[in-house]
Amino acid sequence: QTQPVGQLQPAQQPAAAARPAGKLTIIYASQTGNAKGVAQALKEEADAAGVAVELFAAGDYKGKNLAKETHVIIVASTHGEGEAPDDAIELHEFLQSKKAPKLPNLKYAVIGLGDSSYEFFCQTAKDFDGFLSKLGAEPMLPRFDCDVDYDAPAAEWRHQALEKVQETLSVGDAEVVQLPVGHAQQVTSVYTKQNPYTATLLTNQKITGRSSGKDVRHIEIDLEGSGLSYQPGDALGVWYENDPALVNALLIRAGLDGSESVEVDGENFSLKQALISKYEITLANPQLVTAYADLSGSKKLAKLLADKDKLRSYAASTQVVDVLAEKKTRLTAQQLIGLLRRLTPRLYSIASSQEEVGEEVHLTVGVVEYDAGDETRQGGASGYLSRRLEEGGEVKVFVEANNNFKLPADDNTPVIMIGPGTGIAPFRAFVQERDNRDATGKNWLLFGDRTFTYDFLYQVEWQKYLKDGVLTQMDVAFSRDQAEKVYVQHRILEHAGQVWQWLQDGAHLYVCGDANRMAKDVHEALISVVEQQGRQSREQAEQYLNELRKTKRYQRDVY
Ligand code: 2AM
Repeated sequence: QTQPVGQLQPAQQPAAAARPAGKLTIIYASQTGNAKGVAQALKEEADAAGVAVELFAAGDYKGKNLAKETHVIIVASTHGEGEAPDDAIELHEFLQSKKAPKLPNLKYAVIGLGDSSYEFFCQTAKDFDGFLSKLGAEPMLPRFDCDVDYDAPAAEWRHQALEKVQETLSVGDAEVVQLPVGHAQQVTSVYTKQNPYTATLLTNQKITGRSSGKDVRHIEIDLEGSGLSYQPGDALGVWYENDPALVNALLIRAGLDGSESVEVDGENFSLKQALISKYEITLANPQLVTAYADLSGSKKLAKLLADKDKLRSYAASTQVVDVLAEKKTRLTAQQLIGLLRRLTPRLYSIASSQEEVGEEVHLTVGVVEYDAGDETRQGGASGYLSRRLEEGGEVKVFVEANNNFKLPADDNTPVIMIGPGTGIAPFRAFVQERDNRDATGKNWLLFGDRTFTYDFLYQVEWQKYLKDGVLTQMDVAFSRDQAEKVYVQHRILEHAGQVWQWLQDGAHLYVCGDANRMAKDVHEALISVVEQQGRQSREQAEQYLNELRKTKRYQRDVY
């Protein structure tokens, strides 16, 4: 592909460019795949621009190699409360340790993905930026922190970053390479987040009992002919539509009728249609509250702005329509839309294995409900899937791979799966897969929910798997069936000896479900198990779990 100096290029090969002598390294720290997607797009763009480029997952990149790099771009998403994605913990720790090399020759850029409703917005990106700068590396352009609706701004930043890379990579005139002609994207299906597949809803079945306090649905979606495929642990992206009744309520509050024309991405829509399918209109966020405080002159909202914590908790518990109700103000269509975030698809952990269900995909959807005085309102995506979409109706979907939540490659490896509530979803996929592959490794499932009678999700299936020996063991914690709360972590502690033994036998640990409380409490319980059973100090036990995490034996899918 390369040609010696001075040799003329054949005239029929016009797409040639001088290749810079140096190389760009892109590292992504991704939990659910968003940062990976941005990094892959950047790699393709660099390839197309003739820049030599290498792409790494943070978990696969040796931190000390940074000393040999000249140009690095990090794409980092932030997890939980400002934590690095599991796959990036090691690099994150390394760069703040004494072992980190000085980096006087490195030029770098960092882009963060996050959600500005959270206090530790893009913290991981901020950390990486800080570490590299402290080690003497020089930023090529300022770090950019993307909010939930990151597609367009991330693309713009990538463009700027690549220009900087091209300006500063030493251009060696020695080599001339062909630009890739008719550059083919590496995709398994033509359907992606931007170009989703219009699928048919086959089944929508309530699987919590009549007297349950929760409404959980088993959803089956037809993928036949789409070419979409997935692995257990992957997620399904769902583009949903907002409730027309909620759209109407919003229009009334803003004094608009919905027929106004608005432009979204260069296309014209009626305001009503745009509010149904293009914007988030359920929960508020701090920016919206700030902007509306300004527009409306509401004293109450203005007061909130002074206290960041109060603002955040108000925004996190208030719906957009209720913010607008604080002080009714006539808005133009443009002003209303200017307040809102673009709608982003929701990701659901897939609850089926294709080995079992073929060209279908199953989900376990908990219907989210918000109390708003005398009304209850549904969550945008869960309300759409479970209440508004009829069987036979259409829904736009795509597959989002999650390489940080995968069954062990070796079918003999034992697995411990901890999934209370709808956290059970990926484990239905895991067990279906292990059953169909006749995997010999032991399978232990821990499930928790409110009541045995009304909330035991997929009870019949688990009983059959137990009977057939596919499930080696199942432990359940029904929190509201007795006076004291019993949670999955209590079962872990009760079976501490056995958990430790499984870990000694090489078991992989998986946790799925609530990130705020459950996953933390389960983590604490695991630390106790290692302390007690392994006779380790707390610090050693934490280190032990970190090792499991780094070696992908402790994986979490928490939200
Ligand atoms: P609760 O609502 O009765 O308190 C699924 O939602 C299950 O997770 C429910 O049984 C719920 O119990 C339980 N749960 C609530 N907080 C939890 C925590 N910190 N750790 C584990 N399970 C929890």
